[in-house]
Formats: sequence, C-alpha cells, structure tokens
Amino acid sequence: MPAKAPDFPAQRGNSYRDTWCGEIRADRVGGEARIAGWVNRRRDHGGLVFIDLRDRTGLVQLVFDPDDSGTAFELGHRLRPEDVISVRGPVVERSAETVNPEIPTGAYELRVAEAKLLSDARTPPFEIEGRGASEAGEETRLRYRYLDLRREHMREALLLRARIVAAMREQLDGDGFIEIETPVLTRSTPEGARDFLVPSRLQQGSFYALPQSPQLFKQLLMVGGFERYYQIARCFRDEDLRADRQPDFTQLDIEMSFVEPEDVIEVNERLMQRVLAVAGIDVELPIRRLSHDDAIARFGTDRPDLRFGMELTDLTDQLRETEFRVFRGTIDGGGIVKGMNAGRRELARSELDGLIADAQELGAKGLVWAFREGDGWRSPTAKFLTEAELAALNSALGAEEGDLLLIVADQPKVANQVLGTMRTRLADRWGDIPAGANAFCWIVDWPLLEWDEDEGRWTAIHHPFTSFEGDIDEADPASIRARAYDLVWNGSEIGGGSIRISDPGRQEQVFRLLGIDAEEAEARFGFLLEALRYGAPPHGGIAYGIDRICALAAGTDSIRDVIAFPKTASGGDPLTGAPAPVDERQLRELGVTVRSPAPQ
Ligand code: AMO
Ligand code: AMP
Repeated sequence: MPAKAPDFPAQRGNSYRDTWCGEIRADRVGGEARIAGWVNRRRDHGGLVFIDLRDRTGLVQLVFDPDDSGTAFELGHRLRPEDVISVRGPVVERSAETVNPEIPTGAYELRVAEAKLLSDARTPPFEIEGRGASEAGEETRLRYRYLDLRREHMREALLLRARIVAAMREQLDGDGFIEIETPVLTRSTPEGARDFLVPSRLQQGSFYALPQSPQLFKQLLMVGGFERYYQIARCFRDEDLRADRQPDFTQLDIEMSFVEPEDVIEVNERLMQRVLAVAGIDVELPIRRLSHDDAIARFGTDRPDLRFGMELTDLTDQLRETEFRVFRGTIDGGGIVKGMNAGRRELARSELDGLIADAQELGAKGLVWAFREGDGWRSPTAKFLTEAELAALNSALGAEEGDLLLIVADQPKVANQVLGTMRTRLADRWGDIPAGANAFCWIVDWPLLEWDEDEGRWTAIHHPFTSFEGDIDEADPASIRARAYDLVWNGSEIGGGSIRISDPGRQEQVFRLLGIDAEEAEARFGFLLEALRYGAPPHGGIAYGIDRICALAAGTDSIRDVIAFPKTASGGDPLTGAPAPVDERQLRELGVTVRSPAPQ
C-alpha cells in the first residue's frame, strides 16, 4: 500500500459539507455540492461576487449571483479574506475564456444557492496568499503560526513530512522492527549537548533530564530481547541553534541485535530508498562510502557535499622547502598547506578581496589566490614562489587556463575547515550545484575520540557507547577506530549510528579514557553497566534527523519550514511565549529558587 493519505478522505455529508473543495471537477458537473473552508480571495465583477474558497485539498471558485443566490449574495458581498463559510449549490463548467489552468478545479465553479458564515476573521497580519508571509518576517510568521500554516507551501511541507514518517513506519514494520516508546522524563543521555532539566516536585532537589536521544533505552531494549526496535522519538538538546538545529527535534531511532555494521547499513539503505521515493527522490544503491579521513582530506569536512567537484589537495610536500615565509612557517610549525582548484572564474579584485575576508572570518590567517594565465600566473603571491614550486602547484591542482586556485596554510583542522566551507559556499554562490541533484554517502572508519583543547581531555566523537575495532591503545587514543557510520545527504548529516559496546569491561575502559572515573561511571551509568552484565547481545543502530530529512526532501534550507511549531534562533516560541517565568507558588512546590528572575 502506498504511504500516502487519500487526497479526498471519505466524509459523511453533514451540515457543513459533503465534498472537498479540490473535488469540484468534471464528474461533479450537473450535480450539487456542499463545501466549506476559508475565503482565499474575493473579487466583485459586473454585479457578481467571485470567491476562491480554500480547504486542505485546494481552491475552488464560488460564484455569488444576485439572480440565483438572493440572501447568500448579501453575505458574499460582505465576506473578507479568511472568513470561514459553508456553501451549497450546483457545480457548473466555467466558460472557456474564464478557465484557470493553474489549479485542478480551474474549469469548474460552484454557483452558490445557500451560504452560511461559520466564523469571521480579523484582517490577518500578513497575506496568506502570495508573498505576504515571507515579507512579514519570521517572528511574525511564528507568532501567528496558525495563519502561516494555512499557506500552501507550509501545508505541502507538513503533508510531505507525514507521508515520509508513514513510509518509515511501513518499511520498518515490514522488516520486523517493533515500535516502542521510551521515557521523556529520564536521566541525562550524553550526546554532546547540554541537558534540559525538569525539577522533581516529589523528590525536591532532584531533576529529570529530557533525553538528548533514546540511546541508553534502546540499548536496554536490546538487552531486553526485542532485537529490532524503532521509535519516532522527540529529543531535546540545549545547544546554540542554527538553520538545521532545534532544541526539540525528532529522530527516527533504530536499534538491532546480533548485527555487524553491514547489516545495519543494508537495512537502512533500503529504508532510505523507500522513504525518499515518497518525495520523488531516487536513492541509488549501494550508497557510496567514504572513510572519515578521506572525507576530511578531499572535502575538508565529515559531511561532504558530493554534488560537485572542487576537491581539496594537500600541497605540503610540494612546498616543504619554500622560501615563502607564510607557507614555510606554517609547515615548520606542524601545519599544512592546502589548496583547491575553484575552476575557471572571472572575478574582480574586490571579489577576490572578499574571498580573503571570508577565509579570515572562517578562522584562516589569510588566503592565497592565483589565476592560471597563459604561461604564468596572476597572483600577488606568485612572486614569492619559485618556478618549480609554481609548476608543482599547477600539476597538483590540475590547473588550466583561467582557473582560480585558492590556498590556505594553517593547522590541519583550520585549513580543512576553512577550505571545506569555502568550497560549498562558492559552489552555491557560483551556481555550480546542479539543480535537482542528490548525492548520498556513508562516512565510515571514524576515529573514536578527539582531543578537546578547551577541556584538556579526550571526548567521544559520537557518544561514549560506540564500539571500536581491536583493543584500546591507551598510549595513542587518536588511533582507535570507531565502528560508526554517518549518512550524509547533499552536505547535511541526516543520520548517524554505530555498533555499541556490549561488553561492560570495554565500556568501563572507554569511560576511563574519557576521564570518567569508576565512581562517576557507576553513579551516571551504573544501570547500563549492570544491564551489560546480564547477557547483552552484540547490538547496533542508527538515528536520523527527521526534520533534516524532511527539509531536504521539501527543498528548503531551514528545518523550521517542516516543523509545525518551531522555535526561533533564541529558543523561544513567539506564539505561546515559551519559555516563560512561573509563579512563585510553583517554584516553592518544586523547591526551586531562581537567583536572577527573568524580567517580567
Ligand atoms: P546524533 O547525535 O548524530 O546521534 O543524532 C542523530 C541525528 O539527529 C539529527 N539531529 C538534529 N536535528 C535537529 N536539531 C538538532 N538539534 C539535532 N541534533 C541532531 C541529525 C543527526 O544525524 N543516539 C545517537 C544515534 C545512534 O548512535 O544510534 C544520536 O543521537 O540529523
Ligand atoms: P602577509 O605577509 O601576512 O600580508 O601575507 C601575504 C599573503 O599571504 C597575503 O595575501 C595573505 O592573505 C596570505 N596569507 C597570509 N597568511 C596565510 C595563510 N595562513 N594561508 C594562506 N595565505 C596566507
């Protein structure tokens, strides 16, 4: 069965309607219909009133004619945008010259015999139709989200989301996964963000944490013998927001027992193919794989956009002996020189200066640019490099006439990050990304840990429950490889997962490496360690960001466009006013004192 709601759900005829607006088509001509909805637009024309009536299924034209609708005509004349009405009357064909080819009901209209005003509407703060809402600004759109949701593109986006989620359920149900809910009031589940905390009234001074993910519960479900689990799970992370992050967001969370990475990947490739087919997106299997190190080396990021080229190249070896102080100094200091052939471009000096400013804003100390021209180069830096060095750069970057080369010297992390970001930014700015293209890849062979400069300790790149290859080399934690895989779509990380540690001893080892001593491990994760001692199957899984998948499928940049009631960048909801101060009495009951109350 296709994962798709019927276009026109069956409904018992009642006093409001017996037909959907979108159903007013050829097969209704000659009959009568009763429909209901919102006034989309009104036009008065030669003594007649025309109204586009809107419901979930689309628009249809109503005609109020003083000759055949009497008192209804009076109402038609008074109606204003967004009034809610119910009308009844015969369905007729429009005359050829008035057909509207833009909408499916455009060749027909309902001639109103009877009309009822069900609810009148104030003048909305922005037009529902057309560009009004985009011009209103996000704060206003969110403040009146229920009006924003009436717009066609919001409706389409949420309908698409519902179909995507339905397809996820169908596919996983069919593959023997069991949908199970896990608690929202729980203990901290570390995924690298801050927790949202909820004070307990019954145990004052203690707090629940909202889950950053159901990670620990799904592992416990594997210990509990369910073998294949999934959940459409709400997750909560108190982190700085961006276009692709919300403080509460939804994951498709999956876990399986007795599996190796290949098993998880196989099930998930079929899942993605099926789910994205709903949005008309073709996922070619098998999905390409890239090791973490290759991704960083070639694209400067662990979520590469593979829809276009402009790969990065390491130029350190070619420049080890250079006299150019900027490069030499960096290399001698343990850094690298990295370059990108940005292709044939024609840029004004001001645009080139802009690129340098971009690079600096991204954290680089500078940026070298050079154009290949005839036998030589146009670049303020070329004079610092020898012929041999220039020839080596030329061949390493495959430069041809007119090509622009961009080069950054820095510590590997900075050089990769800056050029990786510029690569996608420039491809976007210069229109290099083919319209409608989709590129998927798995990122595999991840390091397990990374050194956190600020905290002066090792941290887990995924989460602390990720399993790893071989044995731990405590002398060289950076060399440990995680059994993890992330799924990347057009440069966006849409999912990530791993095989888990199912051996309590190995789990304790990892906690130790992360600077979590035995006492703290017992206090925070004792329940997990204990469960692992009662016969834990080898297990692994993955979680997807449903909001991100839906945003990409709907072709929008912001996940807010596929969430009915999202939060603003400062984590607020302009509609309800959350977060909000609470009564003194409520705080007292919770045993909570606020040190610096928010201004009222
Ligand atoms: P991870 O932290 O990678 O893994 O999260 C999985 C996916 O969730 C999405 N995501 C978000 N979407 C919107 N807003 C956010 N703030 C946000 N944070 C994450 C991303 C991401 O790929 N328990 C592990 C999964 C596992 O190991 O099975 C986890 O949560 O698309
Ligand atoms: P400076 O002598 O610092 O003005 O640098 C000379 C040129 O090298 C300028 O064009 C800088 O933008 C560029 N530059 C400086 N630092 C770096 C760097 N780390 N990587 C790439 N180019 C740099």
